Amino acid sequence: VSRKSLAEFPGIIPGFINTEQIAVITTDKIYALYGHAVVDGLRIKGNVLEIFIPEGEKAKSLDQVEKVYTTLLENRFERNSLIIAFGGGVVGDMAGFVAATYLRGVPLVQLPTTLLAQVDSSIGGKVGVNHPLGKNLIGAFKHPLFVFSDCDVLMTLEPAELRCGLGEVIKYGFISDSRLFEYLESHLDEALDGNPDVLLELVKASAAIKADVVRQDEREQNLRMILNFGHTFGHALEAESHFSTIKHGEAVILGMQCALEYTRLSGLLGENVYQRGMRLLKRVPVPYDGSELHISRLVERMTLDKKVKDKKIRLVLIDDIGSYRIETVADIDTLEKAWKILI
Ligand SMILES: NC(=O)c1ccc[n+]([C@@H]2O[C@H](COP(=O)([O-])OP(=O)(O)OC[C@H]3O[C@@H](n4cnc5c(N)ncnc54)[C@H](O)[C@@H]3O)[C@@H](O)[C@H]2O)c1
Ligand SMILES: [Zn+2]
Repeated sequence: VSRKSLAEFPGIIPGFINTEQIAVITTDKIYALYGHAVVDGLRIKGNVLEIFIPEGEKAKSLDQVEKVYTTLLENRFERNSLIIAFGGGVVGDMAGFVAATYLRGVPLVQLPTTLLAQVDSSIGGKVGVNHPLGKNLIGAFKHPLFVFSDCDVLMTLEPAELRCGLGEVIKYGFISDSRLFEYLESHLDEALDGNPDVLLELVKASAAIKADVVRQDEREQNLRMILNFGHTFGHALEAESHFSTIKHGEAVILGMQCALEYTRLSGLLGENVYQRGMRLLKRVPVPYDGSELHISRLVERMTLDKKVKDKKIRLVLIDDIGSYRIETVADIDTLEKAWKILI
């Protein structure tokens, strides 16, 4: 994690990699912005094949994956060829899935270019694509050789994309790092403005937390669940908005607000912590019209969440800034009240 470092990236590719065959999977937009900084240096090392995939979630499909397989096969890519996922979370998930499955797996490097990808999706090995029946249902675990984050690329992100990444950063502060939370309290506005020095600090702290959690629980048996703070609520909002009117990170910001409401109403959270948490969350603007939402449907969605076991909703909550707790929902009324306050 560093600044102004894209040109140094090719120099750290390990010697055992066959640099005669490097595929950079990316999109037109990212390539136009930063392609040369990366590819010029790679060309000095070896042969580079650029593979362009479409923008957005539609790139995360088995059809698109098959097209990439075809290009790799036509260019005779082998088992020790390298795939570089160069882009946001969409590119990382899709190119990572290709790397996990092409010839039963080839080396992968993640070169994330969105805040969300730098703090979350590039770390932890979850790669995959969507199915017509749901998001992220087809996938694998595939860890990259390394993740390389240059925070200066974040300066060209749309404000909404920065907000989405910040949702995940704030989440890390809540569940495990009160110092990160304090840093956010004093630097959130600069982060929202895309200040690269501030973003550097946030990416460093967040990537360390994500890596640490995943190291302890790679396959999501227990601890990894804490990364879901705000997400059970947020997923319900995303689903009820048909994944169109609200972005994931924005839904997580509202989801964390709802989680704080629920915890306070359940008598599990002190007023001071509640106020402090809400104050930070409300400083991130989330343009969203919730007037069409139905509370009973949101609750129903929560019971359908893939993290639910035996029809019981298990929630990741906090009992202090930087300290998580896991609770099973005993009282649906309280859940409904929390949604009502949020809406
Ligand atoms: N694998 C995981 O653990 C994990 C975790 C969280 C999210 N995800 C997945 O990540 C995806 C979302 O990722 P995302 O939020 O990065 O979205 P994204 O990849 O769609 O990127 C968002 C937008 O930003 C643009 N962009 C990327 N880098 C840019 C830059 N430096 N400057 C300007 N524009 C840039 C992209 O072209 C795109 O239009 C979802 O598919 C989600 O399921 C995966
Ligand atoms: Zn998330």
